[in-house]
Amino acid sequence: MGFPQHRPRRLRQNPAIRRLVAENELAARQLILPVFVREGLSQPKEISSMPGVYQHTMDTLKAAANDAAAKGLGGIMLFGIPEDRDENGSAGIDPQGILNQGIAAVRAEVGDELVVMSDVCLDEFTSHGHCGVLDAKGSVDNDATLEIYGQMAVAQAEAGAHMLGPSGMMDGQIGVIRQALDEAGHQDTAILAYSAKYASAFYGPFREAVDSQLKGDRRTYQMDSANRREAVLEAELDIAEGADMIMVKPAMSYLDIVRDIADISPVPVSAYQISGEYSMIEAASANGWIDRKASVLESLLSIKRAGAEQILTYYAAEVAGWLKEGK
Ligand code: PBG
Repeated sequence: MGFPQHRPRRLRQNPAIRRLVAENELAARQLILPVFVREGLSQPKEISSMPGVYQHTMDTLKAAANDAAAKGLGGIMLFGIPEDRDENGSAGIDPQGILNQGIAAVRAEVGDELVVMSDVCLDEFTSHGHCGVLDAKGSVDNDATLEIYGQMAVAQAEAGAHMLGPSGMMDGQIGVIRQALDEAGHQDTAILAYSAKYASAFYGPFREAVDSQLKGDRRTYQMDSANRREAVLEAELDIAEGADMIMVKPAMSYLDIVRDIADISPVPVSAYQISGEYSMIEAASANGWIDRKASVLESLLSIKRAGAEQILTYYAAEVAGWLKEGK
């Protein structure tokens, strides 16, 4: 019998060799922690479908931000849950609104040690739960929404956000937000565009996290999971409109999209490991069906391998802790 000419197993034979040849690795500086701050809360409230993730009070939000900075994370992405909602989501543009207050509090804690990011979207603030305002027929009105996004972006920049994350998937949102920021003197406020955001069933636990009022779905503005080409178009439009960074979301079921966009993008590409991805790992681990830590690391590494540089993940702080321990 002939011997194999090629033996790829040689480079897998022990941890030292495997470490030497690993093509990708995780780094705390590229992880971004999404956090929720809720108005009128006296103690943090665990989200039942996301064990270990909380709706924060202003105090525990500050503690989470300090912990994120101490762990060397790249950024923190804030979502706000207001007490009162209305048709136009006006709490989103109010400087005293919970999200803007949260941004100011976090920025005061961490300064420039951590990139302070915030969600520019109306769904947490509207009584109907849509990402935009509705027209007389009850459809999401793209251009009327853009005007509000512009105001919301300026309010967040004024509160101290370094980088804004428009996630509403309205056409033209990046251009309008860029112009509103520039006109208000916020040329240095960056934009991380949720460029390819798909209508996904895996957002389910997030709806609990933000106490979503949505009935129905977001299929008239978020992308159809059947589509691939369209993601490249969305990314190109956002870059042309002034996005500093772009994002693909969700991550796990869309790694082909991450790769497509990573191959064409001249700006940094991020991906969001969303609520349902977190919940699936937690649920399977809690049942003893998968190894939690190994699964978390593998899921994040797959996102890196697909071509994303930054990853938004609810595991960010915990993973940074593991990386620090060197395990
Ligand atoms: C919209 C927004 C959503 C998420 C982030 N920004 C919800 C949605 O589009 O329905 C989902 C994040 C997650 O599921 O972890 N403001």
